[in-house]
Amino acid sequence: MRLEHGTAGARILAFGGYQPANEVTNDDLAATVQTSDEWIRSRIGVASRRIAGPDETVADMAVAAGGKALAGSGLSPDDIDLVIVATCTPESQIPNVSATVAHRLGITAPGAYDLNAACAGFCYALANASDSVRAGSARHVLVIGAEKMSAWLDWTDRSTCIIFGDGAGAAVVGPVTDPEQPPGIGPVEWGSTGGMADKILVANRTSFISQQGQAVFRWATTELHPVAKAACDRAGVAPQDLAAFIPHQANLRIVESIARKLEVPRERVADDIVHAGNTSSASIPLAMSRMIERDEIGSGEQVLFLGFGAGLCYAAQVITVP
Ligand code: UT7
Repeated sequence: MRLEHGTAGARILAFGGYQPANEVTNDDLAATVQTSDEWIRSRIGVASRRIAGPDETVADMAVAAGGKALAGSGLSPDDIDLVIVATCTPESQIPNVSATVAHRLGITAPGAYDLNAACAGFCYALANASDSVRAGSARHVLVIGAEKMSAWLDWTDRSTCIIFGDGAGAAVVGPVTDPEQPPGIGPVEWGSTGGMADKILVANRTSFISQQGQAVFRWATTELHPVAKAACDRAGVAPQDLAAFIPHQANLRIVESIARKLEVPRERVADDIVHAGNTSSASIPLAMSRMIERDEIGSGEQVLFLGFGAGLCYAAQVITVP
């Protein structure tokens, strides 16, 4: 037996994002549950979120975002040999989302699997894609985070329905062919705290999302900045030198607290949550693709991703903007 040759590194070739058309404001929610625009903005930082249509599926949103990333990469569907969809809100357990998405994008017979690390899912999937390319088991990977959180919310529960939104974000990952080029996806720093598994739950097939908000808040604002710092150390970049920090858009107060501890200037910190809500595994690639679309960041610049959420799972890596 011989090992296949992979490549020294993997990089991101393009990003793509998708949000449903229907915008739901805080005032819209205040008309159905006892809350207010002021309460939601001050506690969570959300002004509005997008909610998928009743017939719009996780796969529909994944196809939209994945198609954009594929188009941006300049590759053809035939070039993709692995598709990973990070999601915790699929409509069905079987079949998985990724094989359907690949088929609808015209990608012929790729490896295809779904990955559930909840809001950390995109960073986990990106690490797996990078490792697959480096090991030689795939050459080009389509990585997607897609969520229909709205389907798992109790719309009468004011403590959860105000937080989340729907959407999808995607990246195409390929090899670094020039050995002089640095890897475009840095080493992943990942882990989990299964002893706190009950803090964010969909307990069974008929349940909605529930969480112990304060425990999650405390965990996120005390345990995660060392993870982010370790990812920076492993990539050889100081947090202060990053062009941008894109943590999972869980809650603006959590985002700002972690950024302060890392000493990343506020203007370099993503705050996509304001108009997207918390879209779980979609939040990081969605925020990244919008930053690129708005020319807020340049090719070759370094960005720190930090995903975290139910599990409790977390993962961080530094990437180079395509
Ligand atoms: O991807 C992971 C996502 N999870 C998170 O990011 C959760 C992190 N946790 C949080 O962001 C916060 O814990 C929440 C925003 C969820 C809640 O904020 P809090 O400051 O921890 O509020 P609380 O749960 O302690 O509730 C304070 C009060 C309660 O009223 P009483 O008992 O003091 O009268 C709640 O009933 O606020 C009330 N409340 C609301 N009031 C107006 C809860 N939800 C609402 C609401 N509008 N939407």
